[in-house]
Amino acid sequence: QHPGWPARLGPLRVPAGEVTLRPVRLRDAAAWSRIRLQDRAHLEPWEPTGRGAWEARNHASNWPSLWSSLKAEARRGAMIPLVIEVDGAFSGQLTVGNIVRGALRSGWIGYWVAKDLSGQGVATAALALGLDHCFGPIGLHRVEATVRPENLASQAVLRNVGFREEGLLRRYLDVDGAWRDHLLVGLTVEEVMGTVVDRLVREGRAILP
Ligand code: ACO
Repeated sequence: QHPGWPARLGPLRVPAGEVTLRPVRLRDAAAWSRIRLQDRAHLEPWEPTGRGAWEARNHASNWPSLWSSLKAEARRGAMIPLVIEVDGAFSGQLTVGNIVRGALRSGWIGYWVAKDLSGQGVATAALALGLDHCFGPIGLHRVEATVRPENLASQAVLRNVGFREEGLLRRYLDVDGAWRDHLLVGLTVEEVMGTVVDRLVREGRAILP
């Protein structure tokens, strides 16, 4: 096993409820697919272009192969694929990817949250728990994220947890059917005073139950 995997993180209380993170499971198929099909308009503008129709890609029958490739990446220490739960219910995903060790000790972080929970602190709490895990048990020095300039909600979430803007990556990623510019944000462990969760608690954004 690699440091930081498997992991159960939280709980952290926010207006939506109690946020916890845990590894993806084979039996997540139905909950994953139901939200992904229902929230297509909320998710598609920000996600990598996939092959085939959204309905087919996000059908429950597609989850086992996705789950098994996420688990394979986790087993080789390159990824931490987590489900975001709110009060015990599947509510989104948070993934740390491209984990590189050695002298770089870096990875990217990405997330999505069900639309019916929007604006209630879930992504902010999940990201704080994920970052503390990156800088603690996983042992990373730097975490980065990329976000479309149009994605103001996600930029607010990244700012909430202390990410710093590093630049604009032109035509960086094939998202929603075209090469899209992305803002690059980064955070290194030296910039975190205490933990990211402590920061949210201090700012009154979350409560440790
Ligand atoms: N303009 C500006 N700010 C906004 C807007 C808007 N239109 N809408 C929401 N916000 C702000 C809120 O005020 C809040 O900021 P605050 O806490 O400073 O007030 C913040 O955005 C939302 O914070 P949370 O409630 O913690 O986030 P939420 O649980 O609603 O999840 C997320 C946000 C992840 C962006 C969700 O809407 C989502 O899944 N969207 C679709 C997929 C996506 O965009 N994923 C992120 C891709 S980029 C990446 O992964 C690095």
